[in-house]
Amino acid sequence: MPFPVPSSGFSDDPADHDQPTSGDASATPPRRVPPGRVQKGPFVDQCVPGKYAWCRCSKSSQYPYCDGTHRGSEITPLKVVFEKPVTVVWCACGESCNKPYCDGSHGRL
Ligand code: FES
Repeated sequence: MPFPVPSSGFSDDPADHDQPTSGDASATPPRRVPPGRVQKGPFVDQCVPGKYAWCRCSKSSQYPYCDGTHRGSEITPLKVVFEKPVTVVWCACGESCNKPYCDGSHGRL
């Protein structure tokens, strides 16, 4: 399944990104809750168009989404933009060779 390629050049502030929230359920489709930790398997999400930041420091409480915990370190999130609704299979083990997307590398863990 093809996914949009990672892009760069965005603000490093997570507030600038369309992160999943627990907002009004009637206004948005129901979302799975991000695991909030590295896991042996991907995190699948129905993403609405917008900017997303994939956590590269593995310390986010919203992992695999960045929550800004990396601030003060050299690590920055990997940012992507979706122009249309898409089902995304995010890497949540941190071992994918196609970050931020799962490539099945978790199967070797
Ligand atoms: S919290 Fe931002 S990269 Fe991990």
